[in-house]
Amino acid sequence: MKFDFFSESTPPVIGVDISTSAVKMVELSSGANGAYHLSGYSVASVAKEAIVDGNIVGLEQVSDAVKLAWKLLGSKEKRTALALPSSAVITKKVLMPADMREEDMEVQVEAEANQYIPFPLEEVNIDFQELGISASSPDEVDVLIAAARKEKIEDRVAAAEDAGLKVTIMDVDTYATEAAYHLVASQLPNSGKEQTVMIVDMGAAMMHINVMHDGDSVYVREQAFGSGQLTQEIQRRFGLSAEEAEVAKRKGGLPDSYEAEVLQPFVQSLSTEVARALQFFTSSTQYNRVDHIVLAGGGAAIPAIDVAVQDRTQVNTVVANPFHAMSLGSKIKQQQVALDAPALMVACGLAMRGVD
Ligand SMILES: Nc1ncnc2c1ncn2[C@@H]1O[C@H](COP(=O)(O)OP(=O)(O)OP(=O)(O)O)[C@@H](O)[C@H]1O
Ligand SMILES: [Mg+2]
Repeated sequence: MKFDFFSESTPPVIGVDISTSAVKMVELSSGANGAYHLSGYSVASVAKEAIVDGNIVGLEQVSDAVKLAWKLLGSKEKRTALALPSSAVITKKVLMPADMREEDMEVQVEAEANQYIPFPLEEVNIDFQELGISASSPDEVDVLIAAARKEKIEDRVAAAEDAGLKVTIMDVDTYATEAAYHLVASQLPNSGKEQTVMIVDMGAAMMHINVMHDGDSVYVREQAFGSGQLTQEIQRRFGLSAEEAEVAKRKGGLPDSYEAEVLQPFVQSLSTEVARALQFFTSSTQYNRVDHIVLAGGGAAIPAIDVAVQDRTQVNTVVANPFHAMSLGSKIKQQQVALDAPALMVACGLAMRGVD
């Protein structure tokens, strides 16, 4: 297994997002005219509390979900790209002389890492990428260093390997979201060029915020607010189990009071949370506005959520569909993909690592 956030090597891989509520897989291949083809995708729910704050607590339950997702995917490919949650990764940008040799750079990276990583170096894996000539000094290059605890990596690898799969790439979820954003950008006016776009991924436990400016990530943050709160409210109100609430949420069948008394208040607090994220961003960075909001994650499947967020924030809002320009495998239905796509951003970004 390679721990690499950055290498460009491209074996075919399945993108596997191991997240709070589910294991999500996406398999891409190259389609016509250099575009991507969506060969397949699958979602298998993860037992409650098996993943907490991005950490695998119930290894067996998670690997069962990986096994099921792979079976549902119906692929022969066993090589996978996984992601660590960004909270498990420390990154730092440093300056190094532009003419430094690769070997010397490795030594330098270790020395830099030693200074800012709060764990013994033998407990972490480190990777780095040269980003190009520094804007502030032409004789130097910006180098991005990323480090993660080995045990966090090993837990994820174990979940995949116990399910009979092979891990060839270990990425970071925010980088995968950024990769998939490049497919979503074409949904925006002028493909988001020279614009500031806030991606809001509403997961089960977390709201993951990633702001892109002219195609580059400029800001990453997480807020503890997730769609799981709606599930809990449904359970409480209507006396349902978590599983029943989850099904009712997606398929309907709840009492008439649900819409006005449970769903709408949740939609309002979600919109407020997005407005708050916008305000944090504009008040703590050089950017004073956001041109578009892209909604992703399972929460983006709530009907008309884009309208509610746009009303509240007064910012043009769209629901992400990283597959919108792709040709689809024969078993995949257009309508269903549009519903499932927002929650598949990370898995899609990971699967992109496997296609030239
Ligand atoms: N149609 C729908 N209506 C309302 N909520 C939905 C719908 N579809 C999915 N969800 C909710 O979205 C959440 C799952 O979203 P997602 O798959 O993005 O989470 P996750 O990636 O597992 O979580 P996290 O990113 O926090 O680790 C669940 O809470 C689920 O109930
Ligand atoms: Mg997620």
